[in-house]
Order: sequence, then structure tokens, then C-alpha cells
Amino acid sequence: MTTTPAEDAPPRPEKRTRLWAGLGLRARVTVTFGLGALLLSVAMGSLSYFTARHFLVAERHNAAVTQTYVNASQLRSDLHGGTASVDTVLYGLDTSPTASSVLYQGGQWYATDPFTEGQSVLPVGLRAMVRSGNPATQTFYVADDPQIAVGVPIPSIGGAYFEIFDESDLAHTLRVLALAIVAGGIVTTLLGIAVGRSASSRSLRPLTGVSRAALAIAGGQLETRLPEASDDPDLAGLTSSFNLMVDQLEERIDREARFTSDVSHELRSPLTTISATLGVLEAHRQELSAPAREALMLLGEDLRRFQRMVGDLLEISRSDTGSADVSLEEVDAGALVRHSVAAGLRNLSPNAPMPRIEIDPVVGEARLQVDKRRFERVMANLLENAALYGGGATLVSLRPESDGTHKVVITVEDNGPGLEPSERARVFERFYRGTASGRRGAGTGTGLGLALVAEHVRLNHGNVWAEEAEGGGSRFVIELPLASEDSGL
Ligand SMILES: Nc1ncnc2c1ncn2[C@@H]1O[C@H](COP(=O)(O)OP(=O)(O)OP(=O)(O)O)[C@@H](O)[C@H]1O
Ligand SMILES: [Mg+2]
Repeated sequence: MTTTPAEDAPPRPEKRTRLWAGLGLRARVTVTFGLGALLLSVAMGSLSYFTARHFLVAERHNAAVTQTYVNASQLRSDLHGGTASVDTVLYGLDTSPTASSVLYQGGQWYATDPFTEGQSVLPVGLRAMVRSGNPATQTFYVADDPQIAVGVPIPSIGGAYFEIFDESDLAHTLRVLALAIVAGGIVTTLLGIAVGRSASSRSLRPLTGVSRAALAIAGGQLETRLPEASDDPDLAGLTSSFNLMVDQLEERIDREARFTSDVSHELRSPLTTISATLGVLEAHRQELSAPAREALMLLGEDLRRFQRMVGDLLEISRSDTGSADVSLEEVDAGALVRHSVAAGLRNLSPNAPMPRIEIDPVVGEARLQVDKRRFERVMANLLENAALYGGGATLVSLRPESDGTHKVVITVEDNGPGLEPSERARVFERFYRGTASGRRGAGTGTGLGLALVAEHVRLNHGNVWAEEAEGGGSRFVIELPLASEDSGL
């Protein structure tokens, strides 16, 4: 039969390493402790068993040889005179209860064996060797029971004396000892696994804290720190370097946010001057040539765009540095939505279509705790986007959250081309300008509008996301919590 090389090849080392690493640290430590305990108990158990066995067997062996020689010498002296009968002498010997005597004399066999037929159980080789004048010892089995036979030649009476010792009790003792050692080994291995499990859990506990802190930091809670582990020198290093890393991260984020804020501030004054100068020029635009008027118009458009971007950047950087002033006040949800839509539409071109406004009668009366200015900015940005990229907002709705939580949901929809699923989260990124921005109103936006929407909604303790509207257009959804006394809605 032929085998493919893949079947013959031993498992590749990196595969084994991957398997081992895939077990996880806790499982690896547990397995290592378990294997260590198993190896230790196998080594210690084998050592104890073989040492005990060696001594017990040697002791039995020596006792058997000694007893056989003593009895052989007794036989020699008793039979040499020739007065007593062989059986009398043989039965008169002092043997242990589990031993039997066999005598060969004058071509005859005599035995005291109460269990077997005397000489017939003796191994043939042993019989021959002793009868030829050499003392010998041999271990053999009778019906699975171990026996030791010791043979001593007695030339003075022309015979040989054998003694057979039943060693079953020794075999039983050794079996019990082996079982006790195996049971001890199993208990030790289980203890090793338990110790490994508890040691790994204890040593990994600080890592759980680190992971929780890292998650909190990733979630924006930059003030999260690990508690100082002053009593543990190993952990103190980890804790202090983790906290140092977060300190530096926070400092860097702060520095960057302050930089954006400073730059925006610095830009504001020259922009105001330029804008004022432009105002003067615009007042005299009739005196300018046609190309100069055209240039002035382009300059005006770009300047306004630039001013808006600086304003947006300043607003974003305030919330980055944590210096955003949020003035929450309680307002009627319905009135807030209606008022914000009206204000938002005023900023758009006068012929911008008026969206349908659907206000749920119950939730319309509910109270919200919001920063009105920020909410109006949110609606204005969404309506402006709908006008620029979706042909104008078609529906603005206010309804209660369907999952029964104490929230309201405000949506702004349009019938435009909508957003690709991959774009729906990205449009809230800073300076992201999507595919739709190239279709209409190109060149007018900076990609900060929705990033600001997300910041304003967050500061109002809400959520915002984009989804597909029924007709394929865009739907922007704002979720806001109800003021506490209305939370029973
Ligand atoms: N209603 C909409 N329909 C389709 N695409 C939209 C819609 N609203 C926003 N987008 C896409 O999301 C992008 C990001 O919008 P965002 O308002 O953040 O920036 P912008 O409108 O390009 O610039 P500005 O900072 O002036 O608002 C837009 O460039 C556009 O591609
Ligand atoms: Mg926009």
C-alpha cells in the first residue's frame, strides 16, 4: 500500500505551536500544571514502587534461602544416622506455613506439599541442576500464583532438598501498593490541574482589569486609570506603565484638540478683517469691471465657506477639549421640532420644498431636555444636506421609540439617491465627503456638517445614525431621551 507524503509527514511544528497558542493562557497554564503533576507522580510513584518491590522480594528471597539451608542441614544430620524414617524427618522440619518441602533421596521423591504433587511442580531445569550438585533458586508460577523454589544438594545422603514458597501474599501486597500509588498519582494530577487553574485565574485577574480599562478608554472615557498595585511589584510596573500610556495619550489628544482650537481662533480675526474688506468692495461692485465682479463673487463664496469651516472646527474642537458649553432646558418635543424645521428652512433657498411634518400626538406633548441651539444646528444641517444631496427633505417625523424605552425618535427623510450601506457610518466622520457630494452642490461642503451633528446629538445625550428611507432616499434618525418626569410615557 502506498501512502501520500502528507500522510507520512509528522505534524508541522508551527501547526502544533498554533494549536498550543490557540488554547489560551489560562488553559495552557492549567495543562502545564496538570502535566507537571502527572509526570512528578509517575516518577515518584515508579521510584517508590520499584524500590519497595526490590526490598520486599530480596527480603523474601533471602529468608527462603536461609530457611532452606537450615532445613537441609537438619535433614542431613537426621538422615545421616539412618534411624528415623524420611517422612518423619521431613514433616518434622520447621517450615513457614506457606512453604512445602520436597526431598530426593535414593532415586525416590518425598514431599510435604499439601497443595500440589510435590516434586512435579518443580521446574525440570531446577531439579536437574540441584541433583547434579549445584544449589539453585527459581521463581515460577502455579495457576498464576508466583512461587520461589530453593534447591540444595545434600551429597552426604546422596540426595537433594527443595523448599517451595508460595509468594501470592507478596504479589497481593505489591498489587495493593501499585493501586495506592496510581490512586495517589491521579489525586496529585487533579490537584495539579486545580492549582494550575486557580493560579492562572489569580494571575490573569489583573489583566481583566486592564482589558476593562482599555475598553472604557476606547469608549471615550479617557480619565479611566488602573488603581495603583503598590503591594505587588510585578503588577505595579504594568499598572504604572498603562497609566503613563493613557496619560500621554490623553495629553496628546488634548494637545491636538487645543491646536485645532487655537488655529481656528487665530484664523477668525484675519477672516473678519477680510470679510469686512470684502463687504466694502461688494458695496462698490457696480464700479468694477465684469471680470473683477466675477472674481469678487467667487472670493465672497469661498470666504463664506472658509468662515463656516473655521466656525465648525471651533465648535468641534470645543467639544474635543471638553470646553463645550451645553445649556440644557426643558422644551415640548413637538414645538422644538416644528420650530427647528422652520429655522432650518429659512437658511435654505426660498424655493426649498417644505417637508411633511408628522408629529405623534402623545410624544408631541412630551418634554425633552435639550440644548436648543445645538438641536437647531442639527436640524439645519440635516435639512441642508437633504436639499443639497437628496432634492430636499420630504418628511420630518417625531414619534416614541418603538422598543418601549423612554426615548423619542426624530427622522429627516428625502427622496434622493440615498447613501451606500458602506457610507452610512462614514458620513459622520470629520471631512468625509461622500459620493453624493459630487452630484449636486459640489464644492460647497467641507464634510464637517454631519460630524458636528453627531457631536451636538451626543452632547444632548442622544444617538444619531443614517439608514435607507422607504423610497430609497436617506433617512437620518436622531434618538433623544425624554426628560425624567415624562419617562413614564
Ligand atoms: N441626505 C443625504 N443624501 C445623500 N448623501 C448625503 C446626505 N447627507 C449627507 N450626505 C453625504 O454625506 C457627506 C457628508 O455630509 P456632511 O454634511 O458631513 O458634509 P458636507 O455636506 O459635504 O459639508 P458641510 O460640512 O458643508 O456640511 C456629504 O458629502 C454627502 O456625500
Ligand atoms: Mg452638510
